[in-house]
Amino acid sequence: MKYTIITLFPKIIAAYLEESIIKRAIQRHLIEVEVVDLRDYTTLSHHQVDDYQFGGGAGMVLMVEPLVKALEAVKTPKAKVCLLTPQGKTWDQKAAQTIIGETDHLILICGHYEGFDERFLKYVDLEISVGDYVLTGGELASLVVLDSTTRLIPNVVNPESISNESFQNHLLDYPVYTKPVDFRGDQVPAVLLSGHHAEIQKFREEQQLLKTWQKRPDLIVETKLTTNQVVLLKK
Ligand code: ADE
Repeated sequence: MKYTIITLFPKIIAAYLEESIIKRAIQRHLIEVEVVDLRDYTTLSHHQVDDYQFGGGAGMVLMVEPLVKALEAVKTPKAKVCLLTPQGKTWDQKAAQTIIGETDHLILICGHYEGFDERFLKYVDLEISVGDYVLTGGELASLVVLDSTTRLIPNVVNPESISNESFQNHLLDYPVYTKPVDFRGDQVPAVLLSGHHAEIQKFREEQQLLKTWQKRPDLIVETKLTTNQVVLLKK
């Protein structure tokens, strides 16, 4: 997958690319990330990319011309053009899975200030919001999209961690424990130390359902439960 991120703050993006799983995915050529500075696409003095809004009102608006020029410079025929904006469709695990299957070039455009000139929307395939709150810009949101899709690309993370994790199967992850076995009298559940795989599996399925029931009951869809979980639910 190739990602192109168009931003006014390339250093924010660059810092994230230099750590952990994303760094390794780049090194292993599983993803490629191109970071584009929007200011390189303005012809105005002082690299101006924004201006006051017509009709009056607070805040600056990103101008359509540098946005379109930057996009035209990077766009490939099958690219999916995504605009990060609080007015977009709310991002979730399903959206991440869908988009991975739809394209091999994601262009992520980060807004700033009061927003974009509305005329830019006709160049965009998808408007994405990462939640119902307003960030100072789209950079963090673009990294959310980059990160959550990258980890779904084969060989980026262990496939087993993806199949067990939260939101896959519409349930939260089961609780996990590591050393020590006893922390200030608080014990790791004995079944996890038993070496009995069927019992461990059963315990995890129960815990997964219990945790989801307590924290996010809205996620529970009966058709996605294991037989064991359906039995538990009916009790
Ligand atoms: N830019 C500002 N707020 C945002 C949000 N919630 N999602 C995506 N982009 C944004």
